[in-house]
Amino acid sequence: MKKLITHAHTMRKRSHAPYSNYTVGAAVLTADGDIIGGCNVESSSYGLTCCAERVALYRAVAEGHSSFKALAVATENGGSLCGACRQVVWDLCGDIPIFIADKKGKIEKTSSAKLLPEAFDQNKLK
Ligand code: THU
Repeated sequence: MKKLITHAHTMRKRSHAPYSNYTVGAAVLTADGDIIGGCNVESSSYGLTCCAERVALYRAVAEGHSSFKALAVATENGGSLCGACRQVVWDLCGDIPIFIADKKGKIEKTSSAKLLPEAFDQNKLK
């Protein structure tokens, strides 16, 4: 998991966040053992901004991955995942461990089930 968290920190340096200045990096571990990263990318039309977690996951899907084992997120102050990302993580990953790191190296371990209790998902669509 150390490699995954380090990659999230590296991705945070690539953040494009000129409006909020809140830089976020994320890295997802695939079932194949690959690590795919993402960073937040902001737009002058603020609502078009995409969070680091979704960039990482959408990138991983676009690269052909469909099964995920863990996610790491790096922020300045250990900020947690937004609601939209919690839903996307649940949809694409199910219940996986999530490591949230701050810039000082503090790491909090949680999970997608803990972050999104009583989740809406595809089972409700059947
Ligand atoms: N942000 C993320 O990248 N992930 C989250 O889960 C929370 C928020 C980004 C979006 C925006 O660029 C900045 O942080 C401030 O909201």
